[in-house]
Amino acid sequence: MRGKFIVFEGIDGSGKTTQLKLLGDRLKERGLPVLHTREPGGTRVGETIREILLNPDYSELVPRAEAFLYAAARAQHVAQVIMPSLAAGTIVLCDRFLDSSLAYQGFGRGIDISLLEKINEPATYGLVPDLTVILDFCAEDGMDRISSSGRGIDRIEREARDFHAKVAAGYLALAGRDPARYRVVDANRQARQVHLDVMKAVEVVLNEIASGNSRT
Ligand code: TYD
Repeated sequence: MRGKFIVFEGIDGSGKTTQLKLLGDRLKERGLPVLHTREPGGTRVGETIREILLNPDYSELVPRAEAFLYAAARAQHVAQVIMPSLAAGTIVLCDRFLDSSLAYQGFGRGIDISLLEKINEPATYGLVPDLTVILDFCAEDGMDRISSSGRGIDRIEREARDFHAKVAAGYLALAGRDPARYRVVDANRQARQVHLDVMKAVEVVLNEIASGNSRT
């Protein structure tokens, strides 16, 4: 049976990494086959593209080139990792996917959403997540978290707070277009509380596996 494709989205500093780990641990405890992966990255080629995208030295990168690089990394990721894993029955937990491009390059940079969808159609091979969890988090607090984390700040994180606020609002707009496929979770709370809401959304998808049903 085909696996499930669960994506986490949210602004930088929204706690995606923590939530993905908590969810992955829970699913593994239940003996389910889980693959944890991320965009941009998840493959050797994708991780190399990621280095260009996040390196602050490449400040000359224009929005369209940025969008194509994210899409190129995605094409490699979908073909090499995600589709074969789903075909093998694995639950794929992915840190970001297409909606990151729509939120960051679209709502953030101002590229037309329909142009981004055109670029990404071949890059995703038409693959649509079974569930996208959006961690809704205050953009100001996200940037504060990143600045106080003590690690280097990448090219995207260097953008102004206003950019990240547009991205956060963009995610909510995207969720509003197709509420059945998205679950918006208030991430301005303790990680354990956020996790409980994430589990509620994921249980629906897991029940489909248990009953052998699929929406795809
Ligand atoms: P992420 O892995 O969340 O960063 P970190 O390792 O610092 O937590 O994502 C990398 C950055 O790339 C993040 O700022 C969001 C951005 N991004 C886009 O702008 N478009 C995209 O399509 C994707 C996948 C990510």
